[in-house]
Amino acid sequence: MSSDITLAFLGHSAWRILHGDYDILIDPFITGNPVATVTADQLDPTHIILTHGHGDHLGDAIGIGSRGKAQVISTFEVANYVRGRGCADAVGMGIGGAHNFNFGRVKFTIAHHSSSAPDGTYLGNPAGVVITIGGRSIYHAGDTALFLDMQLIGSRDHLDVALLPIGDYFTMGVKDAVTAAEFLMPDLVIPMHYDTFPPIKVDAEDFRSRLEEKGIRCAVLRPGESHTIPAGA
Ligand code: NI
Ligand code: MN
Repeated sequence: MSSDITLAFLGHSAWRILHGDYDILIDPFITGNPVATVTADQLDPTHIILTHGHGDHLGDAIGIGSRGKAQVISTFEVANYVRGRGCADAVGMGIGGAHNFNFGRVKFTIAHHSSSAPDGTYLGNPAGVVITIGGRSIYHAGDTALFLDMQLIGSRDHLDVALLPIGDYFTMGVKDAVTAAEFLMPDLVIPMHYDTFPPIKVDAEDFRSRLEEKGIRCAVLRPGESHTIPAGA
């Protein structure tokens, strides 16, 4: 498929990846997200990818996944959890594992964080994810601390885009996310997981200028904005 790939930022860590007929929703925290520019009922994705079970990532996944056609792809525990709550088509993968779906390839990566559902159910390890679609690879880091093995993630797959949390408090802050970008060596970094709530207010322009000093491209998107890349080989 030769059409462009569009990354639409829904606020916080919620994204849509649009390519051809595919509409892949990641960490759809919409309801209760103070910066969301869409409502959950406006979304009818083909797939939902979840990095972990926290409410600001699981979000509206169960509502959207149980009323629509979406296949939910996540870790084993999160997939079991949403399947038990109405998402009939839920695929549970393991960290380090990859699989080719109809739209492209999904590989789950480690993330240093935690994972539980809003009701307190423990949901195993959190993850990041590398999604390869239209010949491009996009890394969504989920919620994570900085870790040295990001060097491996960037060397296994050339990353066209890295979506990195920068909000501090729950995840990497600006300084650690700059080092993460140096480890990952992506063509483009887009920050996420900041400015949604008071404890994670940071200066994204400071992040962007620190990256540019190191020769790393960065695009700062406001919720509702998109970034489009041409399909790769
Ligand atoms: Ni979290
Ligand atoms: Mn989070």
